Parts: sequence; structure tokens; C-alpha cells
Amino acid sequence: MFNKISAQAQKLVNLANKSTDNIKTNTKLVTITSGKGGVGKSTFTANISYILGSLGYKVAVLDADIGLANMQVLYNIKPEITFFDYIDGKVDNVKDIFVQTPYENITLIAGKSGYEYSSKATSFVFTRIVNDILKLDEFDILLIDTGAGLNEYVKEFLDISPNVLAVTTTDPSALTDVYALMKMISSYKDSLLIAFNHTKSYQTGQAITESIKNLAQKNRLNSNFMLKYLGSVSMSQNIATTGRLRKLFAKEFDGDQTTLELRLIVDNLLNNMKV
Ligand SMILES: Nc1ncnc2c1ncn2[C@@H]1O[C@H](COP(=O)(O)OP(=O)(O)O)[C@@H](O)[C@H]1O
Ligand SMILES: [Mg+2]
Repeated sequence: MFNKISAQAQKLVNLANKSTDNIKTNTKLVTITSGKGGVGKSTFTANISYILGSLGYKVAVLDADIGLANMQVLYNIKPEITFFDYIDGKVDNVKDIFVQTPYENITLIAGKSGYEYSSKATSFVFTRIVNDILKLDEFDILLIDTGAGLNEYVKEFLDISPNVLAVTTTDPSALTDVYALMKMISSYKDSLLIAFNHTKSYQTGQAITESIKNLAQKNRLNSNFMLKYLGSVSMSQNIATTGRLRKLFAKEFDGDQTTLELRLIVDNLLNNMKV
């Protein structure tokens, strides 16, 4: 009997915790996503975190790619603890899952590849962990790197994030996926931030953003919905090489064109972020 009541109570608590709306925090939450894999989400997340950290912002990065949790590889660390240890109740304090990276002001909350989450997907476990991090009010920015696709758990992160950044290339299949993402979230959100990778100029990304907006208008997507263009990063051997060497291009090649392009994206992100 008691178990039954407490299970019901827990469900109510979960429902009450479903939204981040009532949480008092100064931590800004940004979820980085894309429909397609391999477009550069994790590369952007790691290097954006580096730029933010070097500007003095305290940043937490949550690796929410359950297919391929690779943020630790990009930071070149081997964490022994992941956020699933918190979900599974192996550690009680959310701070125990914080992993210091070799970079100033960057904390990693590591993920795990291939975690079996389906049995828990209905109890808003990801929402709860994000809420617990926000409630600490310890970070200026929480970046969440998601995996490819628009599955249930990616949607859960999108639902609770006031800021969603779509990373895409100009590849038609990547653009189709971004449009699908925009269509989905335009029914309940008022904006989507967009940045291009493997894209040779700021103007190219800007022109494609305009085409996406025109298509949305033609298809009568929510007219109050805003697609906000942040910038484009070109293709660069230095990005591929630093990635392989487990280093960050924004640090190793701080004067490179691509680093300047990403810095512009970060500036625009800072100007457009909501709490
Ligand atoms: N602008 C770029 N130029 C060259 N290589 C890049 C660029 N952006 C990303 N890469 C490389 O592409 C691969 C996929 O990037 P990744 O960030 O892991 O994509 P995602 O997280 O979207 O799956 C990595 O090997 C990365 O080093
Ligand atoms: Mg990735």
C-alpha cells in the first residue's frame, strides 16, 4: 500500500518537475541539435564551450548523445562517472557527476553510449537532471549536445530548452532534417537559432536561412516563429586534425578564419540567449 502511494506521489513530483518554468536560476540553457549526424554538433559544442570559458563564463556541458557519447574524447579526458549514475541512483548529489575538464571554466557532465533509457523515458529523468543542475545556479551557461535524430529523449531536451541551436550543413538531406526540426518545434516554441558548418561564407548561410524562412511562410508555419541566423563555419583541415588529436581548434588555432567565424556565432548566441 505504502509503495503504491509513494509511486503515485513520485509520479506527481515528476509531473510537477516536468517543466523548467518555475525554477529560479541565472543559468542559460542551450540545446545543440540537428536532425542529421556528422554535421559538427559535438565539434561546435566543445569549441563554443572553450570560447565561452575563455571569455570568463562558467560553462557546463552535458553530453546527451546516447548513441555516441564523445564529448569526453573531444576534451581528452576519461571520466569514471556519467550522468546515468545519478539517474540510476548510484550517486545522490548532482555535483558528484561534475567532471573537471583541462579547460578553464568548463565542467563536463559525461554521457554513456548505448544506455537503455526506454523504460525510464516516461518519467522525465532528463528533465529532472537538467532541473537539478539549473537549480544549483552555479553555471552561467549549460550546453547540451544531443545525438542525431528527433527521438523521444532528444525531444525531451528540446522541450525544456529556452534556446535551441540547430547545426546544419548545406547538404540537402541536412537541410531537410533542419526543416523537419523547425516544423516540429514551431508548434510550441517561438524561435530556433541556426548555424551552418562546412559552409564557405557568412552570406551563404544567411541566404539559405532566408530560403528556409520563405518555405516556412509558404507552408504556413506559425507566423510568430523566428528562425535566427547566427553564422557559418567553413570546412577546415585544422578542425578535422585537432578533432582527431583530441584538441580544440578554437584554442590551437585561435587566429584561424574558422575560429573567428565560430567567435561570431558565440557573440550572436550571447546576444540571443534567453533564461
Ligand atoms: N568545419 C569542419 N571542417 C572539417 N572537419 C569538420 C568540421 N566540422 C566538423 N568536422 C569533423 O567532422 C566530424 C563529425 O563532427 P562531429 O562534431 O562529431 O559531428 P556530430 O556531433 O554532428 O555527429 C569530426 O571528425 C569533426 O572533426
Ligand atoms: Mg556528436
